[in-house]
Amino acid sequence: MPTLATTVDGLKLPNPFVIGSGPPGTNLNVISKAFKEGWGAVIAKTVSLDASKVINVSPRYGKLHSSDGKEVIGWENIELISDRPFRLWEDEFKRCKDMHPKGILIASIMEEYEKDRWVELVERSQACGVDGFELNFSCPHGLPERKMGAAMGQDPEVLERVCGWVKGASKIPFWAKMTPNITHIEDPSRAALRGGATGIAAINTIRSVIGVNLETLRPEPSVEGYTTPGGYSSRAVKPIALRMVMEVAQLIRSEFPGRSLSAIGGVENGRDAAEFILLGGDTVQVCTGVMKFGYEMVKPMCDELLAFMDKHKFEALADFKGKALPYFTTHADLVKRQTERKAAQKAAAAAAPAKKMVQTDGEWSGDDFVKQSNDLAW
Ligand SMILES: Cc1cc2nc3c(=O)[nH]c(=O)nc-3n(C[C@H](O)[C@H](O)[C@H](O)COP(=O)(O)O)c2cc1C
Repeated sequence: MPTLATTVDGLKLPNPFVIGSGPPGTNLNVISKAFKEGWGAVIAKTVSLDASKVINVSPRYGKLHSSDGKEVIGWENIELISDRPFRLWEDEFKRCKDMHPKGILIASIMEEYEKDRWVELVERSQACGVDGFELNFSCPHGLPERKMGAAMGQDPEVLERVCGWVKGASKIPFWAKMTPNITHIEDPSRAALRGGATGIAAINTIRSVIGVNLETLRPEPSVEGYTTPGGYSSRAVKPIALRMVMEVAQLIRSEFPGRSLSAIGGVENGRDAAEFILLGGDTVQVCTGVMKFGYEMVKPMCDELLAFMDKHKFEALADFKGKALPYFTTHADLVKRQTERKAAQKAAAAAAPAKKMVQTDGEWSGDDFVKQSNDLAW
């Protein structure tokens, strides 16, 4: 019988499903609900020392629906970090650990670029008994205006220094959460790991504009007739997240073996999770999925992941973590492999010709265009 139980950075999780920082971990009530439903760990909503600077607006979400209007495939938010006072959070962190001593509670923290502020946030949070930290270097909206969030995550030098401050003050593991709003995610990830981060979490939301209202001719979500670009999440971001998780996993494998990776972005079921683990994730976070389907979704997710493991005869997550990673290569290498394979199979191919697919750009035809496109897909 396969097991989903896993130990990451010394933290014992009953399964790899972690509540991602955001509304699903925004106060003790909802965090308790997550533990009761069986989530492997909870990352609380990002906190800072002075919540009085955090002022949210409404509406603050915008959704992108499938063409039949039945499904939400993309979700934009312009929500800030927690607007609740830090002393309230200190009390709730303590009570949460009293109520759920075995529940893995991770505090997501963010501060301005000042060593004393980061150290204070770390020391006060860990005094409440939280099990780990996630450093939010990645919120793409609002906070960068104060040089926080993604503004830090886009600057490897700043990132390395802040991770060093946290390393000096923290007695518990900490993950640096990366922004996808950058060309090469390896650069800030390397800086965070050099600075002493125990692991990387990726990705936060993608800077976006969800749409323009064709009646009012204004961008959405509209706040007093105006908007600001927000963070994109949910199913639509999964391919981008998979690519970035793969890149971070390759970096960890080659330069920082033993560091952990928490994969995030568009996860909604156990099969999505299996894909992220195959690309190197130790844990898999879900944020928007919980807002769409509720905390109960963790049970079918566990069942689906177990069914996948059973099918492939994997006993533990470690049996397939990173198993798909060796199969990424360059385009030139793909051409070489295909040329070699074709040469080797030339005789057999002549006997049983393969489906006719476009080989060179001159073969595209206006009449068969859609069919030709489909034939080229896997
Ligand atoms: C409404 C909303 C609020 C969020 N707030 C935070 C936050 O406070 N801190 C943080 O690190 N990430 C925050 N995120 C980002 C998520 O944790 C996650 O990285 C991202 O949404 C991608 O995962 P998903 O597709 O499972 O939602 C938020 C996301 C949403 C949708």
